[in-house]
Amino acid sequence: MTEIARGLEGINVTATKLCRIDGQKGELIYSGYNIYDLADKSSFEEVAFLLWNQRLPNKQELSDLKTLLNKERPLDNIVERLIRELWPHVRPMRTLEIAVEVIGAIDPDSSDLTQPTLRTTAARLTAKMATVIAAYDRLRNGKEPVAPRDDLGHAANFLYMLTGEEPTELAKRVMDVAFILHAEHEMNASTFSAMVTGSTLSDMYSAIASAIGTLKGPLHGGANEAVFKTVDAIKEEKNIAPHVEALLGRGERVMGIGHRIYKTTDPRAVILERLGHQVAETSPDRWYFDLSLKLRDYLARKLEGRPLYPNVDFFSASVYRMLGIPSDLYTPIFALARITGWTAHLLEQYADNRLVRPNALYEGAANREYIPVESR
Ligand code: COA
Repeated sequence: MTEIARGLEGINVTATKLCRIDGQKGELIYSGYNIYDLADKSSFEEVAFLLWNQRLPNKQELSDLKTLLNKERPLDNIVERLIRELWPHVRPMRTLEIAVEVIGAIDPDSSDLTQPTLRTTAARLTAKMATVIAAYDRLRNGKEPVAPRDDLGHAANFLYMLTGEEPTELAKRVMDVAFILHAEHEMNASTFSAMVTGSTLSDMYSAIASAIGTLKGPLHGGANEAVFKTVDAIKEEKNIAPHVEALLGRGERVMGIGHRIYKTTDPRAVILERLGHQVAETSPDRWYFDLSLKLRDYLARKLEGRPLYPNVDFFSASVYRMLGIPSDLYTPIFALARITGWTAHLLEQYADNRLVRPNALYEGAANREYIPVESR
């Protein structure tokens, strides 16, 4: 075979029951449920159950999952001590990656790849990763970590652990919906990383650490923080045109724009924009959202006729900014949601495993004579 599938574009590497994307229509479906319905009516915990079981939970199942997540929220001593050591030197995404490996290292069942244990691991990581990021942010701000609150849902508790204050109803809902929107996205780069690592029958913790490392890049999850930097650098409407022209002139990309699969507007961006309007009504940082809208409109005119539209990262940046969340937590927050999709794909992978091992087409030299180093 001499063809190369660069970037594996258009290649099906597996079958999945989790997610379907129609990039031409702008549709995103989790196990048969449209993302607009889930964002409107569901909760992150329900979506986690859906991804792990391909059906919505009944009341008892939802309550059991919440109890399990609550139980798993606190960090072991060693993990908290690790964060205390790391925060002055290490950025949050790498802290998350390291913490996941350490949570795995102290789990005596980490190499048990049977489905019930893997499901517990999935819930454990979903719960604990939020606590890791909140503790990291508290510590670097000279504050002690806040213990989780059992009466708050996953998204609300995360905001509570960040600030030590109960979030408003709007902030709770917006964070919950942001988690739902980022939970799953078929065979994206980080999910594929998790799949490759899992396919060697390495454990779920290592597979998730691989995924976190992959999500970090600016062409993937790192784009939301990069959007923040772009809009922050633009500052005023009059700077939009010169900034964008200079950027494109240097052959660079506008972050938060374009997608490998969506050739129309990303539905997640549509939902986040709607939420952005609600948050902006009371936010002191609404200028940032307003400027993002103007940037979006400028780019729409500039890129007219090309399939380049705002993606999920474009509006998550302004929504998080208006919620008062520091910009280097945007990509970690993506990971706190995507952990459900990553682990759901790993459940599928471990249940029907095949080692991922593609080929590379050799283009190097042929039949060379070996000459000893003394004679070279
Ligand atoms: N800004 C400007 N031009 C862009 C662009 C962007 N954000 N994204 C793609 N393009 C252009 C490319 O330069 C290329 O132009 P050309 O045909 O003249 O060479 C064309 O659109 C196709 O791009 P390509 O690199 O083939 O698309 P891809 O499928 O590899 O890219 C992304 C997908 C996401 C990597 C890309 O759109 C990008 O870099 N976006 C910014 C990063 C981002 O927001 N990532 C988060 C994704 S959720």
